[in-house]
Amino acid sequence: MTSSGRTREGPSRRGPVITVDGPAASGKSSTAREVARRLGIRHLDSGALYRALTYALLDEGVPQEEWVELEADDLESLQVQVEPTEEGIRIRHRDRPLDSELRTARVTARVSSLASVSAVRSWLLRRQREAARHGALVAEGRDMGSVVFPDADLKIFLVADLEERARRRLRERGEEEGPDAVRDEALRLARRDRDDETRSVAPLRKAEDAVEVDTTGLTLDEQVDRIVAMARGLTGSDAQI
Ligand code: CDP
Ligand code: CDP
Repeated sequence: MTSSGRTREGPSRRGPVITVDGPAASGKSSTAREVARRLGIRHLDSGALYRALTYALLDEGVPQEEWVELEADDLESLQVQVEPTEEGIRIRHRDRPLDSELRTARVTARVSSLASVSAVRSWLLRRQREAARHGALVAEGRDMGSVVFPDADLKIFLVADLEERARRRLRERGEEEGPDAVRDEALRLARRDRDDETRSVAPLRKAEDAVEVDTTGLTLDEQVDRIVAMARGLTGSDAQI
């Protein structure tokens, strides 16, 4: 942040921002949520926003081949509402709160295709930056440090071996970790990572000034401890947590 308080993200950011980016199932959401809780600040799950638009388009029966032509007005008419809460954000579709609907296989398989549409990214950019107007934030996703909050006070890039990430996903869903299941899940994760890394707008990549943390051999607690320690070590009056 500059001494005038202005940032490249706009003049009205309030409080420090920590970004957590990385590939699918690297631990972003669980880490960011716990870091935010321990620091007593808010959490922004940006993936949930992309998922909410995907869910709404599927719910309204808009054919996938038309998604590439979507414009701001079309997105507005989907009636996906993003509201600030004490912990972060709440997402509704036509006034109905969205939660587990966002993480179905149907949404997961299609979300990266929607995330490559530049009108979608611009529409969500404003909403993500609005979240930082309500105070300090841990923001996680794919382009939090590179595009949405380029002036963030601390940038983390989480990575983990593909097979370990596949196992974590299976464990999370309470499914067997047999070799076929691990292979199929790893293929799904790798496909989504490739789509996210190769799109022309805001591709998944580590920001130059981000700290990479390999979580393959770490427990969730260990990686949270490291990030909380880094956050507490921030200096400068703008960045006190
Ligand atoms: O939790 P998981 O890593 O499986 O995915 P997510 O964070 O919920 O994100 C779902 C998808 O949204 C990603 O695969 C990206 O295509 C897109 N996304 C994005 O493009 N930019 C972000 N900042 C966050 C998510
Ligand atoms: O948000 P992202 O897709 O990057 O990952 P996540 O949903 O936070 O993490 C995927 C799963 O891995 C969750 O069930 C975490 O609790 C778990 N995890 C783990 O088992 N070991 C770690 N060191 C980090 C996360």
